[in-house]
Formats: sequence, C-alpha cells, structure tokens
Amino acid sequence: MTVTIKNEHDIAKMRIACRLASEVLDYITPFVKPGITTNELDKLCHEYMLNKQYAIPAPLNYQPSGYPPYPKATCISVNDVICHGIPSDKKLKNNDILNIDITVVKDGYFGDTSRMFIVNPGSILGKRLVQVTYECMWLGIERVQPGAYLGDIGYAIQRHAEAHGYSVVREYCGHGIGNVFHEEPQILHYGHPGTGIQLQPGMIFTIEPMINAGRREIRTMPDRWTVKTRDHSLSAQWEHTVLVTKTGYEVLTVSANTPQPSQSLYD
Ligand code: MF3
Ligand code: CO
Ligand code: CO
Repeated sequence: MTVTIKNEHDIAKMRIACRLASEVLDYITPFVKPGITTNELDKLCHEYMLNKQYAIPAPLNYQPSGYPPYPKATCISVNDVICHGIPSDKKLKNNDILNIDITVVKDGYFGDTSRMFIVNPGSILGKRLVQVTYECMWLGIERVQPGAYLGDIGYAIQRHAEAHGYSVVREYCGHGIGNVFHEEPQILHYGHPGTGIQLQPGMIFTIEPMINAGRREIRTMPDRWTVKTRDHSLSAQWEHTVLVTKTGYEVLTVSANTPQPSQSLYD
C-alpha cells in the first residue's frame, strides 16, 4: 500500500534494466518497415533480450488478476490500438503509427519504456499526434522533483493534449516500478496541480501518456488485452521510467538512440 523508496543498490540495478529496455528499442528501430509483421518484430525483440542481454521479457505470461496470461514478449499497438496490442501476423503498411512497449527483467529489476514509430511516409495527423504525445510525456517528466505533486504531472500532460484538441486515456496510467512490474503509486496523465502525493527522492515510476486524436473512450477487445479507441481514432503513447533525485529527475530508460527531450521528431 505504500510507495517504495529505492536505495543506491536498487537504483544501480534499475539503471541497468532500464538501459537494456531502451536498447531493445534502438535495436528494433531499423526493422520497422512496410511488410514486416508485428509477430516478426516481437520475435526479434524477444531473441535480442534472451540471447544478447540475458534478460527476460516481463510481459510474457504476465497475468494480473482478472486477465488471461499475456501471450507475447512485447506489446505492439498499431493505429487505433491504445495499448497492450498483441503481436500478430498482420503486416505493417505505409502511414501506420505504432507503439512498441518493452519491459525487461534483469537481475530481478524491471525496466519499462515505449516509443512510437511511423511507417513511412506518415500522415500529417499521425506525425502531429505522435509529436504532441512526445511533448506530453516530456512536460510530465519535467515536473518531477522532490515536493512536486503527482497532480502537477497529470495536469501538465492533460493541458498540452487538450490544447491540441486531443484527449487523455483515463483507464491506464503510469506506475511505480522496481523489483515489481507495477506498484504504487499510480501516475495519472490528467489531474489538478497541487493534488495527490508529493514526490520524494528515490521514488521510481513510469510516465506513459496515452493520447487519442479523437475521444478518450476505450473499447477492450475479446482477447481481453487489446485496448482500442472506441471511435477508431488514432492513439499514441510514449513511456519512460524516471527516478526522483535530490534536485529533480533522472530518466533511467536511456540508450545511444533515445530521442532527445525537446526534439522535433519529424522535420
Ligand atoms: N509495459 C506495459 C506498461 O507500460 C505493461 C504491459 S503488460 C502486458 O505498463 F502484459 F501487456 F505486457
Ligand atoms: Co509501464
Ligand atoms: Co510499458
């Protein structure tokens, strides 16, 4: 029921797990092309984790109460899929937007990160949604410092999304993470400044806004994992795992090719 404060040992282990998760995304990037299936992307990521990183994919057989075991190593969410897209034999096509969400377990610690990809050449709406969602994630991250409120993070994200006419998914949120995949606190991607718990050095959690081009309502598919936009509008998500430091934040899910904070992604 309480938020864990990580010690230096935990933090060192989390830096490793989180870097590995980010490196899986670096690795898979050049494979994201028209014609490849999401199953093929999943298999490449899975083999990379096992054989190159000696790490385990956390999603595989993950089974929160009320869910069937998750059947794959990664989540790949294409176009109107908001999150928990199950890799399949469906091929990527031009202008698809997709999120690849990687969680690795290394030495008992979990690193969780996701990025968006656009299959060339990309639509104007797709690029704009992906860029604004990226900015939402960073505006949230930039609120992280000791004494800040969780509501400050949610508010920054919601304000930016809604200023662009987009909506914030309410049913899924960021989460504490460490030697457990999902732990307290919940990091809502909407809210009011000055509300919720206050951040303390040593907390580690994800910020992973899901932003819809249309309405915020969701529909869960019969597989009980895949979550789509009810209105079939596009949805985007970016995710980092972040440590609260004495003076601010440290993004743990970084690697050689992590997109930079104030990057303009598509020009
Ligand atoms: N990685 C997701 C998150 O950001 C969780 C995926 S759970 C799974 O929290 F079982 F679908 F993989
Ligand atoms: Co997460
Ligand atoms: Co994730």
